[in-house]
Parts: sequence; C-alpha cells; structure tokens
Amino acid sequence: MPTETVYGLAANATNEIAVKKIYLAKGRPSNNPIIVHVSDIEMARNCVSDWTDEAETLANFFWPGPLSIVLKRSKIIPDAVTGGGDTVAVRCPQHPVFQSVIRTCRFPLAAPSANRSNHISPTTANHVFQSLGDNVSLILDGGACEVGIESTVVDLTVPQLPKILRPGMISEESILSALSSIKKPHDNIMPFSSVDSINEKMPLKSPGQLKRHYSPSVPLYLLNINSEIDVSNFIKERGFSVGSCALISMDIFSNTHFAINICIGRDPSSYAKQIYSALYRSDQEGISAIILQNPPDLPEWRGIRDRIKRAAAR
Ligand code: TXA
Ligand code: MG
Repeated sequence: MPTETVYGLAANATNEIAVKKIYLAKGRPSNNPIIVHVSDIEMARNCVSDWTDEAETLANFFWPGPLSIVLKRSKIIPDAVTGGGDTVAVRCPQHPVFQSVIRTCRFPLAAPSANRSNHISPTTANHVFQSLGDNVSLILDGGACEVGIESTVVDLTVPQLPKILRPGMISEESILSALSSIKKPHDNIMPFSSVDSINEKMPLKSPGQLKRHYSPSVPLYLLNINSEIDVSNFIKERGFSVGSCALISMDIFSNTHFAINICIGRDPSSYAKQIYSALYRSDQEGISAIILQNPPDLPEWRGIRDRIKRAAAR
C-alpha cells in the first residue's frame, strides 16, 4: 500500500498469523519490530499502554505524517509485531489511500517497507513489484510517494528523554521545538548516533540501525564531488569504465558518458522524493558501480545521509 514515505506491506496488526506473513514475504528476521499504522490518535491510544503528554504533543504537531512514535505496547498488539519486545511504534500516515483503508478496516495495520529485507525501499508500485514480485498478491498503486524516505522514529518510552532511533525528514530540531511547547523541560534529545559509532554486536533497538541496509545489488560508492575530474579519477583508480557506471548527482555533470546519469538537485525534500527511484533505476545488470555525489553534512540532509550511508556500506 502507498504511504507518503515509502510503500508498505500491510497486515492486520492485531492478527498474529497475518503479521507473520509479512516476515515471510519480505524474508525479514522475525525479531525486527514492525510499525503499526493508525487512522488517528484514538486508534494509537488503543495500541499502547500509556499514551504520554509527549506523544500527544508530537502527534498533534506531526500527524498525519512521517513520524513513528515508540511507546509501551498494549495487549492488542501481538509479539509478531514487536519482535517479542514490550514496545510498539505507532504512526498515522498521511496518504489518502492508506488512510481510507485503515478507516474501512477499523483495525490498525502493521506495515514495514514493501521491499525484500535489506533491499531498496520502494516509492512506486512498480518498485514493489520489482522487489517482492509474486510474494505479494495485491499491490495498490497510489502513485509516487511524496516524502520518499522512511519516517523518523522517535522513542518516547523513557519520560523526558526522547530518543531518535531513525532520522527522517522530520528533524530532531523540529521534534525538540514541538516538545518545548509543553511545560516539562526538554533541553535534551538523545541524538541519533552516527553510523560509524554503532556497535553491530549490541542488541539493536531498530534494524534500520544496521550498518548495511536499504542496499542495491550493484556496489554503491559515496563520493565528494566538486568537479567531473573527481569522478573520472575515482573511476580510473578503481579500474571501472565510465560506460558501465551510473552517476547519481546533485549537480549536473554532462561531459562524461555514464551508462546512467541522474541529477536530482540540491533541494533536500525533492532529493528525498527521488533518491530511491534513482537507486532502483541504477541497480541494473551491466552496471558495475553506482557513484553517488555525497550530499552536504547539514541538518536537513541527516535522514537522507543516513539512508545512503547504509546503502553504500558493504
Ligand atoms: O515510513 C515508514 O516508516 C515506512 C512506511 C511503510 O510507514 N515503514 C518502514 O518500516 O520504514 P520498516 O519496517 O522498514 O522500518 C521500521 C523501523 C525499523 O528500523 C524498526 O526497527 C523500527 O522502525 N521499529 C519498529 N517498531 C519498533 C519498536 N517497537 N522499537 C524500536 N524500533 C522500532
Ligand atoms: Mg524498511
């Protein structure tokens, strides 16, 4: 099903058997918890044991929209959704198709991104078909996703200490500023730890934290590019040929003859909307490397940089 972030593979979140089919279709490890999608705050309240003031504030600010809130789960949420843990992530999506399906079902829908586990997240119905093929019996085509990368995941299970588990297009800064409108002081938000500092041996709170995730099959290289010479030098050093490389850039580089050359500009929102499509288009037989121009290290690029770093990790 389409959401405003990426396509989701949905099942009745209160039905353990239905939820287990999601893991099968994706090849997803069964201890990875799944986000529960709700039509409104009232439905969210039913999924959690304690709907906090902080949750109420963030939901009022950002829902419907790309924010998932982790809280203690209620009894209606089975183990299959939470990966056996005692918390659940709830999100109220903005897409009108998803909204009307939840309203019609009148139960919450568990939905991870509708891709093979660890593969690129889908932002069109066709991507879902490319990634999951006949593993799913129905794909609802709601057009290209508006946001383009997955929701920000914020953990509110520790009062007064919100923690970003996955950065997204709703930034840490805007979450903090929304929380500052309630009386309790929130000077602190646990910042999202950088990819490099993640210890893979630690138990993971969010599988999106795995170093390698969101990956194309073709090797992906992140490169700081100031001019076309930087790209040609890199290609020469690595022994690739230009004609077998794909370039995904923010700036226009037109002199070199790449097999695929996609420019998606310097606006973070429009970049987020296009990045997964660009990866799907580049991830083809005959391509030996995908070269991605590294976006700037600025707050509005944090979610995007997080995804492409993991896509490039080997
Ligand atoms: O935008 C999105 O969030 C999309 C659309 C379909 O809504 N969904 C999505 O789901 O990205 P998925 O399964 O690909 O990623 C869910 C992320 C994972 O990193 C997962 O670990 C985290 O949310 N998550 C889910 N439940 C959690 C929980 N109880 N505690 C901590 N993290 C949780
Ligand atoms: Mg995913």
